[in-house]
Amino acid sequence: MNTKLYKITDCVSQKNEIKEIASLLKKGEAVAIPTETVYGIAADCFNESAVEKIFEAKGRPSDNPLIVHIAKTEELYSLVKEVPEKAKMLADKYWPGPLTIILPKKDSVSDKVSGGLPTVAVRMPSHPVARAIIEEAGVPLAAPSANISGFPSPTSASYVIDDMYGRLPAIVDGGDCDFGIESTVVTLATDVPVLLRPGAVTYEQLTEILGKVKIHSAVLNPLEEGVTAASPGMKYKHYSPDAKLIILNGTKEEFIEFINNNPHFADFALCFQGEENDIPLPSVTFGTENDPFSQAKRLFDAFRELDGKGAKKVLVRSPSREGVGLGVCNRLYRAAGFNFLSPKQGLVIGLTGESGSGKSKVSEMLREKGCIIIDADKIARSITEKGSPVLKKLASFFGDDIIEADGTLNRRLLASRAFKDYESKILLDSITHPEIVNICEKRANEETDKGNCVIIDAPLLFTSGLWKICHKTVKVYAPEEIRLKRILERDKITEEEILLRFSKQTEENEAAKSADIIVNNYPPYNLEEEINKII
Ligand code: TXA
Ligand code: MG
Repeated sequence: MNTKLYKITDCVSQKNEIKEIASLLKKGEAVAIPTETVYGIAADCFNESAVEKIFEAKGRPSDNPLIVHIAKTEELYSLVKEVPEKAKMLADKYWPGPLTIILPKKDSVSDKVSGGLPTVAVRMPSHPVARAIIEEAGVPLAAPSANISGFPSPTSASYVIDDMYGRLPAIVDGGDCDFGIESTVVTLATDVPVLLRPGAVTYEQLTEILGKVKIHSAVLNPLEEGVTAASPGMKYKHYSPDAKLIILNGTKEEFIEFINNNPHFADFALCFQGEENDIPLPSVTFGTENDPFSQAKRLFDAFRELDGKGAKKVLVRSPSREGVGLGVCNRLYRAAGFNFLSPKQGLVIGLTGESGSGKSKVSEMLREKGCIIIDADKIARSITEKGSPVLKKLASFFGDDIIEADGTLNRRLLASRAFKDYESKILLDSITHPEIVNICEKRANEETDKGNCVIIDAPLLFTSGLWKICHKTVKVYAPEEIRLKRILERDKITEEEILLRFSKQTEENEAAKSADIIVNNYPPYNLEEEINKII
């Protein structure tokens, strides 16, 4: 598709261009337009095939509803069943502006727009170009953010062009967005209003008008499994940079101290403007510490910048949650997968390595440096002790006779049954692994709370899921011929048996390629130096 680019700086003198854009919309096309929050892809909200074009261009799941954009308050009456007093008060005060109100919808609003919900989200943008286009089109425009689904909301026309060029007949450039994060979304379709998405109109401002307002738990926490999302957008993976983000709560001084104590923990810092020269890591900034508006404006940009610089692991200065800061935190926490660290807290480090790689030796050296070692194999054995719930569960799936007369597990018999085919092996893992992860996590938390650094020594660090509870992961590596030689010298077993053992480790070995640190444990090595890469 050919994409025409329009640059609008003055809606009056460029009236003809506004008319051209509006006529595309009236014909049922979808067009990218600027708003004061982020860019949107707009289409006539009463034309189903036009609305479908939005979902196509974005690759967006059809159950995720769109926000309808209006230019005059009267238009609200064509969309919703009733306009309650509270909605009028909010609209009077904050429209036009970065606030979206959800109300029960009229039947004339298509399920395509509402994602099948009985409600519709409406907002009146303040951006002059958006307003001129809506007015000229003469219909409310459904418009989600103008990014490909799963990418960051675009805050300038060039980002829209990156994502949407060739996918839409027109992109309208109206300059950089003032706010940089999407509008505040509040629902008035519930008994007590609920803040579903924080933005530039703050929670505090909403309560001034509405009285009690609930903040939906998914605003600052991961959406719990099995809970229906009040706003379908909550359940979809949100944009996060390729780099892993870890948020460090604490002052600038604590931030710097943490980096000095853990120089290999991260390769980049995301900090506030003015701090970058004091921080001993390459840094990208997102606004100033006391101005959440400046943070909001820069946040998505900063994510793109980090990726552009090839950052892998980024330590982030935690912003305040006050006012617009709540919106910044919402986007940041989600991008970081709710990964937090406090500066006084010790780290959890996962250690894996194939048989003969010298993992035990590395683990021992880390113990000597003061780390607490959690032996995952030992825990794996302990969970099947006499009378344990895991043992009972295993017996119910693999046969009561795997429990001996004295109540202990007959490991050999269990192994013969669990390893007979792929399904049985998966079943065994699904019973044991979550329990092992839980116990390791509990133990690790006890130690890190005391400020200790914990090593989880786990030959199946990746395949068991233990890596997920680690701040960083380490793989001890040695080439196969060296590992073979080491085991031959150490154990009384044949070469065939060793090779068979190796072949069982390929899955973990593949997964461990994504470990944060590789410790090379083969000549000509300097293991001391290699270990310094870890802590
Ligand atoms: O600032 C903004 O609001 C931008 C600009 C373009 O106006 N638009 C925007 O739209 O961010 P979108 O579609 O990317 O996000 C809309 C959010 C989604 O999370 C969606 O699930 C939620 O609002 N939403 C829409 N209608 C809803 C409804 N009826 N009930 C609950 N949540 C709704
Ligand atoms: Mg969006």
